[in-house]
Amino acid sequence: MDENALLRFLKFVLLSSCVQFIAAQNTSSSWNTTSFDPLKYVNPLIGTDNGGNVFAGATLPYGMAKAVADVDGQNTAGFSTDGSNITGFSHMHDSGTGGNPSLGNFPLFPQYCPEDEVNNCNFVIGERKTKYINDSVVATPGYFSLNLETGIKAEMTVTEHAALYHFNFPPKSSKNGTDLSPLILLDLTDLSASRQNASVSVDENGRIRGNGTFLPSFGSGSFILHFCADFLGAKVKDTGIWVNNRAGTEPKTIFVTRGINLFYLEAGSWIQFERPADGVVSARVGVSFITADKACQNAETEIPGDEWDFAGIKKSAEEAWREKLSVVRIDSKGVSENLVTNFYSAMYRTMMSPQNYTGENPLWESEEPYYDSFYCLWDAFRSQLPFLTIIDPTSLTAMIRSLLDTYVHIGWLPDCRMSLCKGFTQGGSNADVVLADAFVKNLTSSSPSSRINWDLAYEAVLNDAENEPLDWSVEGRGGLMSWKALDYIPYLDYDYLGFGTNSRSISRTLEYSYDDFCVATIAKGLGKEEGYKKYMRRAMNWRNLWKEGHKSYIQGNDTGFTGFFQPKYLNGTWGEQDPIKCSPLDSFCSLTSNPQETFEDSIWEYQFYVPHAVSQLITLLGGPNTFISRLQFLHTSGLTDIGNEPSFLTAFLYHYAGRPGLSSELVHQYVPGYFNDTVTGLPGNDDTGAMASFSAFISIGVFPNPGQNIYFLTAPLFPSISITSPVTGKMATITTSNFDPEGKRIYIQSVKYNGKVYEKSWIGHELFTEGGVLEFEVGDVESERWGRERESLPPSL
Ligand SMILES: *[C@@H]1O[C@H](CO)[C@@H](O)[C@H](O)[C@H]1NC(C)=O
Ligand SMILES: *[C@@H]1O[C@H](CO)[C@@H](O)[C@H](O)[C@H]1NC(C)=O
Ligand SMILES: *[C@@H]1O[C@H](CO)[C@@H](O)[C@H](O)[C@H]1NC(C)=O
Ligand SMILES: *[C@@H]1O[C@H](CO)[C@@H](O)[C@H](O)[C@H]1NC(C)=O
Ligand SMILES: *[C@@H]1O[C@H](CO)[C@@H](O)[C@H](O)[C@H]1NC(C)=O
Ligand SMILES: *[C@@H]1O[C@H](CO)[C@@H](O)[C@H](O)[C@H]1NC(C)=O
Ligand SMILES: *[C@@H]1O[C@H](CO)[C@@H](O)[C@H](O)[C@H]1NC(C)=O
Ligand SMILES: *[C@@H]1O[C@H](CO)[C@@H](O)[C@H](O)[C@H]1NC(C)=O
Ligand SMILES: *[C@@H]1O[C@H](CO)[C@@H](O)[C@H](O)[C@H]1NC(C)=O
Ligand SMILES: *[C@@H]1O[C@H](CO)[C@@H](O)[C@H](O)[C@H]1NC(C)=O
Ligand SMILES: *[C@@H]1O[C@H](CO)[C@@H](O)[C@H](O)[C@H]1NC(C)=O
Ligand SMILES: *[C@@H]1O[C@H](CO)[C@@H](O)[C@H](O)[C@H]1NC(C)=O
Repeated sequence: MDENALLRFLKFVLLSSCVQFIAAQNTSSSWNTTSFDPLKYVNPLIGTDNGGNVFAGATLPYGMAKAVADVDGQNTAGFSTDGSNITGFSHMHDSGTGGNPSLGNFPLFPQYCPEDEVNNCNFVIGERKTKYINDSVVATPGYFSLNLETGIKAEMTVTEHAALYHFNFPPKSSKNGTDLSPLILLDLTDLSASRQNASVSVDENGRIRGNGTFLPSFGSGSFILHFCADFLGAKVKDTGIWVNNRAGTEPKTIFVTRGINLFYLEAGSWIQFERPADGVVSARVGVSFITADKACQNAETEIPGDEWDFAGIKKSAEEAWREKLSVVRIDSKGVSENLVTNFYSAMYRTMMSPQNYTGENPLWESEEPYYDSFYCLWDAFRSQLPFLTIIDPTSLTAMIRSLLDTYVHIGWLPDCRMSLCKGFTQGGSNADVVLADAFVKNLTSSSPSSRINWDLAYEAVLNDAENEPLDWSVEGRGGLMSWKALDYIPYLDYDYLGFGTNSRSISRTLEYSYDDFCVATIAKGLGKEEGYKKYMRRAMNWRNLWKEGHKSYIQGNDTGFTGFFQPKYLNGTWGEQDPIKCSPLDSFCSLTSNPQETFEDSIWEYQFYVPHAVSQLITLLGGPNTFISRLQFLHTSGLTDIGNEPSFLTAFLYHYAGRPGLSSELVHQYVPGYFNDTVTGLPGNDDTGAMASFSAFISIGVFPNPGQNIYFLTAPLFPSISITSPVTGKMATITTSNFDPEGKRIYIQSVKYNGKVYEKSWIGHELFTEGGVLEFEVGDVESERWGRERESLPPSL
């Protein structure tokens, strides 16, 4: 698509030094493991500007504690490299989300008060915010640090439920030459100022503890979070509380509300210290959704003793990441180091969220794991969770058990969930796809202790398919009466059973069709023949919104294609939505602003969302050639935005028309053209790693059709990749002969699977669970043979 970007990249590859970081000359499956450190290739700052909203700070894989500096610029995930001002340092965040800034509760802020007069300090955000020194930012897995323009340096690392900070105060004198005393405040707020009410108290030892009620960043309801902060390394001089921009040493506790007129009261607690000789004041902050006592206990258990071992904790975090990332080894001989960094950083970002809140769920008692920040499944089902199926099936199993336990206790599978609250549903009931994907991939069937209860899973997806919730803006599906009676979601439906944004009738029809296919898939696997038949029939409902003869124009010019999905009223009369509406050529359509009959994307994009019946779709769209022209038009006319998830699958659909070479050509333009290792290197919100997984999959040459046991094959970005299943210990190796680091030979000519000629353009998950060697041979023109015959196409209804 963007040929200039591709050319720029190729020039860059030629000029930049090449990297070879494992025993690259040895392409057997037993590379030297001791010399390999994937951490060297993780840059957490990728996507921290330009709306990527990536969390840049310290976290464990799926960790609840996520410590970073918060800014007043692009602060959805706390920090941004946008050069804005630091407002505090806080302990919990989300990564890559859109919507409102998420979490960032109870920030600390270090400063000196002029002449040591506490009331000379800056308490409220507008007064205390300080620029950071751009060059001082250091971000590595498990560690983050920067220097404020005031000269104070902040470093941080984390455990599961606690953050550990080092605030280094350079010496500073008052007018008469005596040393000033460092002050650290704690603010009873969060990044989106959603606090409803909160309490804080500080005791004589300098322990600050409290709680607050906050609102979720993309959902309904509220949640209570507790914290417990201790300090070490400096003698406490004075303590107190502050309100607005005034502070006092009495009282030592305060309760704040939202106020009757919703005036946002800024308040918190503070401690002034005698400056230690080395200038370093340590702060340990435990967090908990249970009680403040539990927050203290989390901190004391995870960061124990009288001397907190910052270096040791950082090292443990690094070890945790090293273990997760070492599952994939790449031989990058001849390839630019940028691509290696891009790959491992993307892989790292797929493990930010969902977050493991097991033991921290106050809503119900259970022995099951509890994960949160499924934010949202509409983003994650397409490739992030399928990526974890390969690299971290144990965690994915725990996540799925958590989804099922949420169904058991809340009554519905979540579609989006954050901060113990229900998030907003965007399209269909996408947990159905997540469950079907894990089901067809036999997730962890080998480990009895962590088995997924598939009968329960079937019950949960049936609930989505059959029962309409009162509030389908946060769970389940809307319009089920019409779905069952009319076989489509009508435009301006008459629905008195439940309530949600009465829009998106086209995208919901397409999504519900695929969701029903996923229900049918689980039914079939469990031997429920009736269910299989019923939902297979409903999986065909997508056809009912196809309008023969409908045309699409761009600024008056006919695009030349005939037949598009269109909205249809209850009475069967067609409504109308311009097929380019909600595309980048028109306007953005979300749930609340500019809602339309397609969600966040156009009819042009959604016309391809029939993942289970692409071959039928090809016929409907006018045969393989027209289908290919339509795909080409979508990807070259500015109608698609690769920075939003509905576009992902469309890049691979050429496979179904017998032209896998065109998919390969296209994805090599998108990665690295639109996904690179710079701070602005993401084309859109990372969406808790959804964007990351798109580029990570393309790098290794496979891409899932989620919900089906299908991976499309395209030419990888590295000469050799090996992936060891953490469950079976078996290794899958993907090698490419005639590999071209300059990215010209990107068309697969032939494939061998375990030494045998392999004609299909797709492969199943067995490659990863059973191991094996997949050998590609590539060339600089599309193969006339490979993947083109009918028998080679990915299976489709
Ligand atoms: C590759 O590594 C294996 C295992 O260490 C070794 O047996 C083999 O000789 C090596 N091959 C080359 C070409 O270095
Ligand atoms: C692996 O690499 C390390 C570091 O380069 C080297 O010290 C070690 O001898 C190598 N081990 C083998 C088995 O080749
Ligand atoms: C940072 O603070 C300065 C000074 O108050 C202000 O001018 C600037 O707009 C702030 N930056 C952002 C991104 O808010
Ligand atoms: C810091 O980085 C920001 C964002 O790139 C830039 O706007 C600002 O000018 C930089 N500040 C300095 C002092 O270089
Ligand atoms: C020096 O100034 C500080 C801060 O204003 C004050 O607390 C301190 O008592 C002064 N010391 C002397 C010796 O005057
Ligand atoms: C705090 O706010 C929440 C949400 O508005 C409310 O339910 C709760 O009663 C309040 N707590 C106190 C102690 O006022
Ligand atoms: C919050 O803290 C206050 C003060 O310690 C306490 O009275 C209150 O019960 C706490 N709220 C919750 C929900 O734990
Ligand atoms: C999730 O967190 C719990 C509690 O910290 C821990 O016991 C469990 O091992 C974690 N789960 C995974 C899959 O790492
Ligand atoms: C799942 O298990 C079935 C039955 O044992 C087997 O036929 C299939 O190949 C397995 N699928 C995967 C992806 O491992
Ligand atoms: C429409 O087509 C005309 C004639 O081919 C062309 O000159 C014009 O640029 C086109 N307009 C757009 C918006 O593509
Ligand atoms: C169907 O309903 C729509 C919307 O109410 C209306 O505009 C249209 O005229 C109706 N068609 C028929 C045939 O009644
Ligand atoms: C990196 O990616 C961004 C976001 O897609 C894009 O705007 C930029 O042009 C890319 N940079 C390079 C050098 O390709």
